[in-house]
Amino acid sequence: ESGKLWGGRFVGAVDPIMEKFNASIAYDRHLWEVDVQGSKAYSRALEKAGLLTKAEMEQILRGLDKVAEEWTQGTFKLNPNDEDIHTANERRLKELIGETAGKLHTGRSRNDQVVTDLRLWMRQTCSTLSALLRDLISTMVDRAEAEHDVLFPGYTHLQRAQPIRWSHWILSHAVALTRDSERLLEVQKRINVLPLGSGAIAGNPLGVDRELLRAELNFGAITLNSMDATSERDFVAEFLFWASLCMTHLSRMAEDLILYGTKEFSFVQLSDAYSTGSSLMPQKKNPDSLELIRSKAGRVFGRCAGLLMTLKGLPSTYNKDLQEDKEAVFEVSDTMSAVLQVATGIISTLQMPFRQAHEASGKAVFMAETKGVALNQLSLQELQTISPLFSGDVSRVWDYGHSVEQYSALGGTARSSVDWQIGQVRALLRAQ
Ligand code: ARG
Repeated sequence: ESGKLWGGRFVGAVDPIMEKFNASIAYDRHLWEVDVQGSKAYSRALEKAGLLTKAEMEQILRGLDKVAEEWTQGTFKLNPNDEDIHTANERRLKELIGETAGKLHTGRSRNDQVVTDLRLWMRQTCSTLSALLRDLISTMVDRAEAEHDVLFPGYTHLQRAQPIRWSHWILSHAVALTRDSERLLEVQKRINVLPLGSGAIAGNPLGVDRELLRAELNFGAITLNSMDATSERDFVAEFLFWASLCMTHLSRMAEDLILYGTKEFSFVQLSDAYSTGSSLMPQKKNPDSLELIRSKAGRVFGRCAGLLMTLKGLPSTYNKDLQEDKEAVFEVSDTMSAVLQVATGIISTLQMPFRQAHEASGKAVFMAETKGVALNQLSLQELQTISPLFSGDVSRVWDYGHSVEQYSALGGTARSSVDWQIGQVRALLRAQ
């Protein structure tokens, strides 16, 4: 006996290089927990269908708990024969509880098992990523609110165009990310569909109750067609596309901040926590964090394009090509998690030389309000009691102030519209 699930009809040994080529355990071991979860639900469904006695089911459940415990404690030992996480867990279950373990796979195929596991794993990961993305958006909106009086040059074609509020710039990126956040919820809905009970291709012949499985694993719906269910990876493609678009947005924001942080622009300063120095040029502070965010976009797009290539033209139904979906999902999930957290850190610690000016103009507004006059009616002497930095060119600043206030239609850069945007983004986040 070769010790393989499908060992029965094979006589010759598998070429060791093929063995390695075929195996996915090196990465799909990440699925150990959801694999156990899926198996527990399936053994309950088998018992309901009268295919396991209650005692057998309980033996299997206890065994699966032990398998999970070994993974948690880091004592689970992989065999050279363990092709993937499904074979590894089942092999270990058999060692622990004996022949009853074999009954767990009755009517099930790795084809419906793997895609169930992956959906469970992605469901969990998407809620984590969703929370990280919302943290980032909230951080941006808070910043936009706190600094809505700071004026800023707006660019088109990378040429100075019109004065805007700094908050308007932040919100331009936050609004794009809010769409990503909404989009992720849509993807999550389509991930949250149960394929278990589809078997290898034709379905389950044993009267397994798929509604029960759905409820047991807390899925929103069950897949409609067993051939489609075991071979479609739309939900993976959608997830990778979601990540790609989100990275498009983040890479654009990163690029703006890289430029704004140069001596030539000098609008913002990246905190030391997200910069590196140069060993050769001590005056330099390099925006490595932003450059990495910009570059990770390429890696994520590559995974998205790669999966679509893999799916294109595949014959019905399961083909081993589909094993390649998981590395893309794992890598992109890790990348998104890191990128979102770093971006949040960057935004919340970004320094602005405008701060001082901001404080002075805030005091000027207060003075004008107290005196019951318009800002531009304050004299230079009055202004200089606030800050000696006020000089003859102050009227130009009021011009900028006047300019941004013209754009008061909803969506524009006037204070009232910026505040409205802040309210809208917060409401959207709350509603999601
Ligand atoms: N490791 C496989 C995968 O990730 C599991 C499914 C294998 N199914 C099969 N018929 N060989 O896709």
